Amino acid sequence: MDLSITVNGMKFPNPFVLGSGPPGTNARVLAKSFDAGWGGAVAKTVSLESAKVVNVVPRYGKLRSRSTGEVIGFENIELISDRPIEVWLDEFRQIKKEYPNNILIASIMEEYDKSRWQELTRMVQDTGVDGFELNFSCPHGMTERKMGSEMGEHPDLTKEVTSWVTEVAKVPVWAKMTPNITNIREPALAAVRGGANGISAINTILSVIGVDLDTLRPMPTVEGHCVPGGYSAQAVRPIALRMVSQLALAIPEGVSISGIGGIETSHDALEFMLLGSSTVQICTGVMLQGVKMIDELKAGVEKFMVDKGFNSIQEIVGKSLPYFSTHMELVQRMKAAKRSKAGEASRDNEWAQKDITEKTAELTSN
Ligand SMILES: Cc1cc2nc3c(=O)[nH]c(=O)nc-3n(C[C@H](O)[C@H](O)[C@H](O)COP(=O)(O)O)c2cc1C
Repeated sequence: MDLSITVNGMKFPNPFVLGSGPPGTNARVLAKSFDAGWGGAVAKTVSLESAKVVNVVPRYGKLRSRSTGEVIGFENIELISDRPIEVWLDEFRQIKKEYPNNILIASIMEEYDKSRWQELTRMVQDTGVDGFELNFSCPHGMTERKMGSEMGEHPDLTKEVTSWVTEVAKVPVWAKMTPNITNIREPALAAVRGGANGISAINTILSVIGVDLDTLRPMPTVEGHCVPGGYSAQAVRPIALRMVSQLALAIPEGVSISGIGGIETSHDALEFMLLGSSTVQICTGVMLQGVKMIDELKAGVEKFMVDKGFNSIQEIVGKSLPYFSTHMELVQRMKAAKRSKAGEASRDNEWAQKDITEKTAELTSN
């Protein structure tokens, strides 16, 4: 079945894209994932001076299900790529030569300086990458140099920096949003005003993964100390879905969305597509399951398309958006359906009469 989709003029063989991070850390891992069947990849974020990027160990932390031990949340304090830009330029060229039909997007980040952003854009563009993703969203480490989410949290900066890049970019530009903001529509619309062709959402959510009750140290603990980091994996998915839907309903037609956050199965990916994502990106899922997870992603989406009668990925994109409404309208619809009594029931003292867990189950949809 044809799973291809053309987004901002880029033809993705399928909508599954490696999210920027360890799965796109160098040409070898990128090649492996294209061989495995991924449609595209956003490489690990690059900047002009890798020497300024120094990572710490440990830099990951996990939140596990109390009952099964399954990883449900993941925190990292990893920085952007610490590999020299010259090495990256060679590798971008090499990947595009070997995989001309896969979409390679370069994620870039720089300090608040027009000439640096434009120099980086030109350099990377010359390698033949298919598009750019602007990292306005890394919430830790880089912010101390006023980079990453320091830009994405300020719509005026988001617009200005996006326009620096779009002034010189000849390929599509996506702006990657931070969720660590009250209204994600504001920086997204600012990026669109700056000329962005697409919005990627979301990057990680600021978090503290836990505290060691023996040592009293917050985690991940580096030489006894800690900084808050970025939260990802399945625990963030409902927040990402909400933000993607808000973006889809707010941004102008023609501006694409690349949905990110806690995608681990075809079911999760379809949810993002139904809420307006033309492509989906996966980072932590690949770190935990490996690149072979692409097999289930493709098979699951193909089965869904057959079962539901969809002929293309494009037909799925945004299909569930018309069902968002206002709370007031939900009440009106319930009244019209003569079910208002059921809703009112939660007001009276039934909460006291029944066991609270029983009452919670009664009011839950899934
Ligand atoms: C270890 C790690 C490193 C990451 N590095 C980057 C990065 O360099 N640039 C970037 O834009 N996002 C980076 N991210 C964020 C992911 O691309 C993604 O937006 C986020 O993790 C949510 O998606 P997920 O739940 O599929 O991981 C990183 C995430 C993790 C877990």
